[in-house]
Amino acid sequence: MPLIIKIRFDMEYSQLKLANKAWWDERSIIHGESPFYKISELVSGSSALGDFEHEEFVIGDAESLLHLQCHIGTDTISWARRGVQVTGLDFSESALIQAQRIAESCGVEVSWVAADVYDAPLVLRDTYDIVYSGKGALPWLDDLDTWGKVVSKLLKPGGRLYLVEFHPISWILGDGEWAIVHDYFSSGQPHIESEVQGSYAASDAVTTFNTTAEWQHTLAEVISAVAGAGLVIEWFHEFPFTYFQQSPILEVNDEGVYEVPEQYARIPLMYSLCARKPFAHSSTRVM
Ligand SMILES: C[S@@+](CC[C@H](N)C(=O)[O-])C[C@H]1O[C@@H](n2cnc3c(N)ncnc32)[C@H](O)[C@@H]1O
Repeated sequence: MPLIIKIRFDMEYSQLKLANKAWWDERSIIHGESPFYKISELVSGSSALGDFEHEEFVIGDAESLLHLQCHIGTDTISWARRGVQVTGLDFSESALIQAQRIAESCGVEVSWVAADVYDAPLVLRDTYDIVYSGKGALPWLDDLDTWGKVVSKLLKPGGRLYLVEFHPISWILGDGEWAIVHDYFSSGQPHIESEVQGSYAASDAVTTFNTTAEWQHTLAEVISAVAGAGLVIEWFHEFPFTYFQQSPILEVNDEGVYEVPEQYARIPLMYSLCARKPFAHSSTRVM
């Protein structure tokens, strides 16, 4: 069957994407030096992946892994150390320059590809045993149904999607009290920020490009995008911890993991999901 591609020509999205790309291009240079990313520990051999990622996702006999939205490659390099051939994709060339520099310091080989996630099947023209999408990737995408179809197209039959994300419940909290402040249900409209300098990894950095557009995706949207693309969900996990100070009340433990203190009610702060592309997959069209 021919690959049918819907050309995404959507003025609003392209403009927002340009703003996001400028934001990431500038932040990637800063993140390459930021203690948040623990580059020297990575170079010394430690892994940037969470302990739970090592425990719950078995590579098995998989030979190839594609990391979508790989940023400066810290997670990507950590996957490569586990013995698979790894490709990291990101639309920020600046992020990939940092990623290659860090990979060289680690003595790890990774292929880096600069492309929009939505264009990945066209640009890569390859399929993979594992497609990995890590913490903080999905909020930058406006259309999860298309993302799900892209993932399916990139997987070999029998291949697996491993998705790790901040829980959408965690985004409804305010910046102060442990209280619900933002809508859980998404309007489909982006949340646009234009005043904030720096980033989650470098809050004091002085920056020029400060406009971002992000989309809230409910758990139902994520699961429907994965299932709607013909992937079969094998497991879904929720976690009461996270990897950055999402709320001021969170306390960081010795392993650098942020948790809700005992006096507060706990909610899920992260989730992970594994879904497999069936062998007899009716050919997926990327629409
Ligand atoms: C929060 S980072 C991912 C972080 C990664 N899990 C890590 O901790 O290193 C999000 C990444 O998505 C990339 N990105 C955002 N929108 C994208 C798009 N449409 N296509 C490709 N990459 C995109 C950004 O350049 C950025 O590197």
